[in-house]
Amino acid sequence: MKAVLLVGGMGTRLRPLTYRIPKPLLPVMGKPLIMHVIDSIPGEVDEVIVPVGYKREMMEEYLNSHPPGRRITLVDEPEPLGTGGAVRNVGEHIDGQFLVINGDVITSLDVASFLRFHRAKGGIASISLWPVEDPSPFGVAQLDGDQRITRFQEKPKREEAFSKLINAGAYALEREVLDYIGDGFVSMEREVFPKLLDRGMYGFQFEGHWIDCGTRENVLSAHRTLMGDRAAVSKSSVTEGATVHAPSHVGDEAVVAGAVIGPGTYVSQRCVVGPMSAVEGSVLYGDVRIGTRCRVVDSIIDQGVSVPDGAEVVSQIVSRSEK
Ligand code: GDD
Ligand code: MG
Repeated sequence: MKAVLLVGGMGTRLRPLTYRIPKPLLPVMGKPLIMHVIDSIPGEVDEVIVPVGYKREMMEEYLNSHPPGRRITLVDEPEPLGTGGAVRNVGEHIDGQFLVINGDVITSLDVASFLRFHRAKGGIASISLWPVEDPSPFGVAQLDGDQRITRFQEKPKREEAFSKLINAGAYALEREVLDYIGDGFVSMEREVFPKLLDRGMYGFQFEGHWIDCGTRENVLSAHRTLMGDRAAVSKSSVTEGATVHAPSHVGDEAVVAGAVIGPGTYVSQRCVVGPMSAVEGSVLYGDVRIGTRCRVVDSIIDQGVSVPDGAEVVSQIVSRSEK
């Protein structure tokens, strides 16, 4: 069985971070998003097909130097084709029932159970569903008593959303779905799903966690979720006089002496947080330097950035890449 991994978006909401690095390679708890997703795909999937355009070389280089232990096929997508067009474009690799997974989601979805659900229902498509308070930034599904989807609408106005159940970004599809994808740029969610409703489309709800890592807030919340409830402090870090609150992570050879590491903070390897500074609810990628008496809150500080003494960084993404 094949899986198609959708990672072709430009990550616009995570700029300037995504000027340097494509969203799928963005580390969450030190591991690129795409690896979290690949690791969640069950063993019965023997090949993962990845249509790529934006920063293809970086993806290729990463996957070659960190082979994920299963067959990965990168397919060129020189112009973005949309989520549907990207799937159509790799159609020749698909030989039967297949999976499609959005590559920017951190989730506890058990993909093997999801596939069993799809087979038991026998529809042309099944999609994973997750409940949220405000469904308007997502695809919204309405279910009947038999878990069949009766309506689907991508990004409705908040007042027009007919359910709190959203498309969680994993699809189990029959090969025939390819026949429903037209030419050119095609959105799976806007143009294909509505056409599949009559053919039997089912929704699979699950428990645990689900976070679309498309925004700063969500990348931070993914870290907080995966951190659990403890402070994980590397033995090779320097923490004299520091206060480290849980949950948090202080990586190898990081120096946080005399600083306050607040809850929900991920300090990567070799970062330095100066004395009398406080970092809270934030992620520092590798080799970041935070000066003395700084305050960093709810922010992502990209690799290699230096934050000058006394600075306040609140709710920002700071990177050296500007475009
Ligand atoms: N190959 C390719 N080509 N991939 C694409 C393209 C494209 O043109 N456009 C987007 N993608 C990839 C993105 O990289 C991402 O992994 C996935 O497809 C979904 O695109 P996003 O841009 O992240 O969409 P979204 O988050 O606004 O909405 C989608 O995901 C939600 C759940 O996370 C939709 O599928 C919603 O219905 C869904 O609720
Ligand atoms: Mg997304």
